[in-house]
Amino acid sequence: MTTTETPYLLGSEPEELRRLEEQAAALAPATRAILALAGIRPGMRVLDLGTGAGDVAFEVARLVGPSGSVVGIDQSSKALRWAAGRCAEQGLTNVSFVHDDLHEMRPAGEVDAVVGRLVLLYAPDPAAVLRKYAGYVRPGGVVVSMEYEMSVAGLLPPTPFSERVAFWITESFRRSGLDPGLGARLGTVFAEAGLAGATVLGLQGYSAPGTLTGSRMAAGVLRTLLPVLTRTGLATTEDVGIETLGQRFFDEQVETGRMFRPPTLVGAWARVGES
Ligand SMILES: C[S@@+](CC[C@H](N)C(=O)[O-])C[C@H]1O[C@@H](n2cnc3c(N)ncnc32)[C@H](O)[C@@H]1O
Repeated sequence: MTTTETPYLLGSEPEELRRLEEQAAALAPATRAILALAGIRPGMRVLDLGTGAGDVAFEVARLVGPSGSVVGIDQSSKALRWAAGRCAEQGLTNVSFVHDDLHEMRPAGEVDAVVGRLVLLYAPDPAAVLRKYAGYVRPGGVVVSMEYEMSVAGLLPPTPFSERVAFWITESFRRSGLDPGLGARLGTVFAEAGLAGATVLGLQGYSAPGTLTGSRMAAGVLRTLLPVLTRTGLATTEDVGIETLGQRFFDEQVETGRMFRPPTLVGAWARVGES
C-alpha cells in the first residue's frame, strides 16, 4: 500500500463523492448492460480499478453473487471509507477494498475479470495499466473498461449557453492533460495493451426537459472543476456563476424544449488469451 495519495484532478471531498454517486445512478443501466455483455457472471473474482464511491464494485457484486467476490482499488482513503460505509448499508458481503495506487498495486493472485470505469482517463499511460492488470486475469477471463466520450454531451441541438458549458468541461480536462475523448479511443488502447479485437460499444440515455440529469451533471462537474477553469484562464468564477448554473441550465432546457444528451459511456472488453 502507498503511504502518499496520488494527485488526482477531481479529489475526494464529500461533495465530489456525492457527485460520483449521482453520476453512477445515471450510468447504472449502461454499466449493467456493458458488464453483462462482457460476461461478468456468478462466481467470478473481479478487481474494480479506481472504485471511488464503490458503485461499479456494487454492480459487479450483484452480478457475481455470493459465490463471487470483488476487490475495489483506489488511491483515496476518503473514497474507500465512503465506499465501505455504503457497502455495509447495502448488505453486500462479497466486496472488499484495497487502498493503493493502480501503478503500484500487486494483486494477491489471479482473477477472472478486471473492470474499471472513468479511471483510465487519469492514467498517464492507460494501455500500460490495462496490460499490467490483464497479466493478473486468468486465461479466458475478461478485461472491461468504461470511459466517456465527452464531446457529444449537451443540449440537442446546442444553445450558445449549453455549448459554453460543454466547452468549459471538455477543455478543463484537456488543459489538465487528460483526454475527454478517451472512450472513443478504447479499442486502440486495448490493442496497444496487447488486447486485440476488443468489442467497443457506446451507450447513453437522453433526458427530457424538466428532468434534472443535465443540470445536475453540468453543475456538479463544473463545481469540482472550478479551480481548473479559473487557474487556466478558461473562465472566471463570475463567468461560471456556479451557485445558479444548475438552475440556469435547467431553465434553458425547459424554455427551449430540448433534450439533454449526456456524455457517451463507451464500454470496451476483451478476453485474455488462452495460451
Ligand atoms: C471519476 S472517479 C470514478 C469512480 C468509479 N469508478 C465510478 O465510475 O463511479 C475516479 C476514481 O479513480 C481513482 N484513481 C485515479 N487515479 C488512480 C490511481 N492512480 N490509483 C488508484 N486510484 C485512482 C480516484 O481516486 C477516483 O476515486
